[in-house]
Amino acid sequence: MSATASLKNTGLEGVSAGNTAICSVDQGALIYRGYEIHDLAENATFEEVAFLLLIGHKPSASELETFKSELVGARELPEPVIAYLTSMRHALDYRTAVPMDVLRTAVSMLGNLDKDSQDSSEEANLRKAKRLTAQIPTVIGHMQNVIDGRELVQPDASMGHAQNLLYMITREKPSDEEAHVIDVSLTLYAEHDYNASTFTSRVISATLSDMHGAVTGAIAALKGPLHGGANEAAMEMLKEIRGDIGPANDTEQIRTWMHRAFQDKRKLMGFGHRVYKNGDHRAGILHKLGHAVADKKGSDAAKLFELGEEVQRIMETEKAIFPNVDFPCGMTYNVMGIPVPQYTPIFVAARITGWAAHIMEQHANNRLIRPVSTYVGPELMKWNG
Ligand SMILES: CC(C)(COP(=O)(O)OP(=O)(O)OC[C@H]1O[C@@H](n2cnc3c(N)ncnc32)[C@H](O)[C@@H]1OP(=O)(O)O)[C@@H](O)C(=O)NCCC(=O)NCCS
Repeated sequence: MSATASLKNTGLEGVSAGNTAICSVDQGALIYRGYEIHDLAENATFEEVAFLLLIGHKPSASELETFKSELVGARELPEPVIAYLTSMRHALDYRTAVPMDVLRTAVSMLGNLDKDSQDSSEEANLRKAKRLTAQIPTVIGHMQNVIDGRELVQPDASMGHAQNLLYMITREKPSDEEAHVIDVSLTLYAEHDYNASTFTSRVISATLSDMHGAVTGAIAALKGPLHGGANEAAMEMLKEIRGDIGPANDTEQIRTWMHRAFQDKRKLMGFGHRVYKNGDHRAGILHKLGHAVADKKGSDAAKLFELGEEVQRIMETEKAIFPNVDFPCGMTYNVMGIPVPQYTPIFVAARITGWAAHIMEQHANNRLIRPVSTYVGPELMKWNG
């Protein structure tokens, strides 16, 4: 015990908090159950990756067909959740709630209405994981249509997971290329070992609490701008730079803006990572795909990418800090016409698969997660003395 010891926390940096067979994250490679992320992004669909994470192996053709039709069949939401979403228009307008908050409550309600809610057996957990994976895009789509004051768009059973998600948000059938880019972004976001939200979900499930509860907690953790919320914050930052310096992308003006941010000790969103100190494997993959779509969409979208690239160059050369996946994600989702407050909910639509895999792994090998702290408070005193 010491009254002078520091309250500064290490953030558990470099500490292994447990074993997992789901994912390995290090500077050398990002691996999901034995498959490297570039390989998956290039050769697997999100549905295949979801199966791999949830069930543990690459699906056969027939396993994949069954899995896909289970997801399509579970897309619709129970009536009380639809009623809740439509009742949230004003809260979303007035920003007393943002889409991540509404999604968090909707997931919690889905638990209240799920016939397996109190059953944490392996079979029930897998059923719930598939239902949540299928339902979350519908929550996001309905929420966006509520915000826009339009009729709800029903899920389209003829569309794959990513294409249907984008369609429900934008009300337009995405091109194959756009659907592919969203699909890859979901794959890149699907899993990342013991990140803050996944660790949250493991801590909750280690008390033997239920899957919907653990996912609800994970969504709250992901919302923060130091974690998943960075994809929205990165886009807001680029808009701020654009607002301050105008649309010309003048290199000197960008440099001046950045130097002021460095002087103010601002954290630039979408840069840096606890594990990847020399760059995030996922960022280059998404940047390339997003920029290709931007080039086709026309000059304004491409110019935002060029601004982002200049910001990135300055961060890398002057600070040796590299973009994480949230930086190109912001620019890419912007090109697709997705409203900024839905960027982190879309992250949830992907990460639900990783969270659910970890919740199931935790339940199957459980021990309560209960670390200790180092007390640095006052010396012992007498209440009456
Ligand atoms: C992700 C993040 C929380 C990792 O944090 P961390 O591992 O605790 O890294 P640190 O905060 O110790 O950073 C080390 C140094 O780099 C600086 N740094 C790290 N990320 C930075 C950023 N995005 N902008 C400016 N400086 C940054 C820190 O200020 C610190 O500098 P100092 O040693 O002079 O104090 C941090 O990089 C960050 O806040 N990034 C912005 C948010 C973000 O994009 N999050 C998504 C992560 S996938």
